[in-house]
Amino acid sequence: MKPVTICCLVVWCFCFAVYGTHKFLHSSPHFHDWKKLYFVYHWPVTVCKMIENDCDNPPMYWTIHGLWADKAEDCNKSWHFNVTEIKDLLVDMRQYWPDVLHTNRTKFWKHEWDKHGTCVATLKSLNSQKKYFSKALELYEKLDLNSYLFKLGIKPGGNYYQLSTIQEALTSVYNVTPKIQCLSPEQGEEVQTIGQIKFCFTKDFTLRNCTESEVYSYAAHENMLFGTEDLSVCNDTLTNYPSHV
Ligand SMILES: *[C@@H]1O[C@H](CO)[C@@H](O)[C@H](O)[C@H]1NC(C)=O
Ligand SMILES: *[C@@H]1O[C@H](CO)[C@@H](O)[C@H](O)[C@H]1NC(C)=O
Ligand SMILES: *[C@@H]1O[C@H](CO)[C@@H](O)[C@H](O)[C@H]1NC(C)=O
Ligand SMILES: *[C@@H]1O[C@H](CO)[C@@H](O)[C@H](O)[C@H]1NC(C)=O
Ligand SMILES: *[C@@H]1O[C@H](CO)[C@@H](O)[C@H](O)[C@H]1NC(C)=O
Repeated sequence: MKPVTICCLVVWCFCFAVYGTHKFLHSSPHFHDWKKLYFVYHWPVTVCKMIENDCDNPPMYWTIHGLWADKAEDCNKSWHFNVTEIKDLLVDMRQYWPDVLHTNRTKFWKHEWDKHGTCVATLKSLNSQKKYFSKALELYEKLDLNSYLFKLGIKPGGNYYQLSTIQEALTSVYNVTPKIQCLSPEQGEEVQTIGQIKFCFTKDFTLRNCTESEVYSYAAHENMLFGTEDLSVCNDTLTNYPSHV
C-alpha cells in the first residue's frame, strides 16, 4: 500500500473508533454528564388543581419537589430507596417535602430518589440517601423562599401578579434568575397559575442563573404520578397565586 493509503486507513480507523465510542456513550439510556443542579419548589395548591384530586388542605407554603440533575435520570436502578436511612429526617420531610396528592408519602420520596437522587449521588456531598435528603432540606431552609416572598409582599390569594413582578422580586433577593413554571390558563380564562420555581446551582451548591436553554426537556421528564407534566415556562402575563384549589 502507498503511504497515503495507509495514512487514510489510519485516519479512518481512528475516526471510526472515536465516533463509535461517542455513539455508544450517547446511546446509553442515561446522560451522566449533567452540569447543574435544580432545586425545585412547588406550590401545593396548584399541584392539587392540576390533578383535580380532592387534596385535603394543601399546605399554604412552598414545599420541596426535588433536587435534580439537569440532564440525567434513573441512574442506578439497583440502589434502592430505604426509608430507614432517613429516619432522623422524617419530621422535616413530612413538613417540607410532603406528597400533597397521596397519603403514602414514602412513594414520593422513593420516586425522587430513584429518578434524581441516584444521579446526583455521583457527587461526594450527595452520595447517600441521608446526604441527598438532608442537603435538599438544607437548601430549602437556606433559600427560605416562603419568607422572602412574604416580605416582598407577594402573597397567595390576593391580586394577580404580573410575572415580571415576581421574577424581579426573586432576582432582587437571590441575584440569580430562577425558572418559574405555570399552569396555562384554563379555557375561557386569561391568567396563568404559578406552580413551580426552580433554582439552579453549580455542583458545589453556589446559586447560578438558570439561563441557557435546556437541551433535554424537563417537560417530558416530570411525571404524571406527581402531576407536573402540564407545567410550562410562564409567560409575562398576569399570574394567579392561588390560595385554594
Ligand atoms: C449502584 O448502586 C449500588 C448500591 O448502592 C452500588 O453498589 C453500585 O456501585 C452503584 N453503581 C454505580 C454504577 O454507581
Ligand atoms: C435499610 O437501612 C437500614 C439502616 O441503614 C439497614 O439496617 C437495613 O438493612 C436497610 N434495609 C435494606 C432492605 O437494605
Ligand atoms: C408506601 O410506599 C412504599 C414505597 O413504594 C412501600 O414500600 C410501602 O409499603 C407503602 N406503605 C403503605 C402503607 O402502603
Ligand atoms: C445572573 O444574571 C444577572 C443578569 O444577567 C447578573 O446580573 C448576575 O450577576 C448573574 N448572577 C450570577 C450569580 O451569575
Ligand atoms: C405561553 O405562551 C405560549 C405561546 O402563546 C403558549 O404555548 C404557552 O402555553 C403559554 N404558557 C403558559 C404557562 O400559559
